[in-house]
Amino acid sequence: MKLATEVTLKLNNGRTIPALGLGTVPSDDPKYVKDQVITAIKAGYRHVDTAWYYGTEKYVGEALKELFDEGVVKREDVFITTKVWPSFWHSPEKSLDQSLKTLGLDYVDLLLQHWPVCLHGDENGQPTQPKDSEGNLKYDDDPAEGTKFIDVYHSLEDILDNTDKVKSIGISNYSIPKLHQLLPKIKKHVPVVNQIEYHPQLPQQDLVDLCNENGIIVEAYSPVGGPGAPVLKLPLVKELAEKYDVSVNEIVDAYQILNGRVALPRSSNLERIKSIIKLPPLTKEELDELYQIGAKNPTRYTNDPWGYGLGFKWWEGDTLSKKFD
Ligand SMILES: NC(=O)c1ccc[n+]([C@@H]2O[C@H](COP(=O)([O-])OP(=O)(O)OC[C@H]3O[C@@H](n4cnc5c(N)ncnc54)[C@H](OP(=O)(O)O)[C@@H]3O)[C@@H](O)[C@H]2O)c1
Repeated sequence: MKLATEVTLKLNNGRTIPALGLGTVPSDDPKYVKDQVITAIKAGYRHVDTAWYYGTEKYVGEALKELFDEGVVKREDVFITTKVWPSFWHSPEKSLDQSLKTLGLDYVDLLLQHWPVCLHGDENGQPTQPKDSEGNLKYDDDPAEGTKFIDVYHSLEDILDNTDKVKSIGISNYSIPKLHQLLPKIKKHVPVVNQIEYHPQLPQQDLVDLCNENGIIVEAYSPVGGPGAPVLKLPLVKELAEKYDVSVNEIVDAYQILNGRVALPRSSNLERIKSIIKLPPLTKEELDELYQIGAKNPTRYTNDPWGYGLGFKWWEGDTLSKKFD
């Protein structure tokens, strides 16, 4: 059987991205991420997804240093992504510089705008979740109608053009309305990816179609639906795992990869990380059956408040998005 760890996808700038990437949101103490990265790379993964916000860059960096020093992989063999958090929206290059220093790297392969939102952070992006006296998020720009988030993407373009610190730039958590705002304003570089929640229960085909039309690869975060792994309880996922004699995780990642998307699973369980590497050859009909689950009954598991007002469908608690209806 083919290995998911060996599949690469072509980005719109001619570079390639490994289709399976290890997520690094910490489950508990972020220091455990070091062993997770080492385990994944030794098992064949060549792509690690981190972010300034996660607090795990230090441990990703320690893992990479050990792997480089031991000669397991070279820098150019691995694809490293980090992101600029909304409270650091005013200084993307400073955020990147902090990330590079913490990671111990000269460059990242991909820098993403984490959310198309501008939160009120200080010169070091603190606090990361600023609140007003009533406990509501404090913004520097209206999340539904503001346009400062476009300036952030322009800064990423400038970093790409004027430095050697990034190989590619992209976006994350861009809804259809936000993409419609951004795309006509791009200076030169169309984002190579849009990282969004994606799994069989949340296909968001209209958003994926818009990304595809513009050459933007979709990266699927929360491929099992996040903590509790609700997506893995779907009877069809279990049935397919038995049929192909693979793990349930490998079925949901194959659903992404065989459709030309990047899958970003994470696990605090080292044995599980090693068991998420095969690419079962799901048929077109099976891929469609998985798609139909969410097309008929969509379920979103990420409903963070900084996603309010962005125009995502099925975003629980979001009232601002109605402006885009
Ligand atoms: N751009 C963004 O805004 C954004 C948002 C969310 C995530 N992400 C990225 O995407 C990555 C993955 O997303 P996610 O963290 O939401 O993760 P996910 O991979 O959908 O879910 C991980 C959770 O599922 C559990 N799990 C996985 N397989 C399991 C199994 N077979 N049985 C029981 N439990 C299982 C894991 O538990 P164990 O630890 O016990 O395995 C963990 O708690 C993140 O780490 C991050 O890199 C990006």
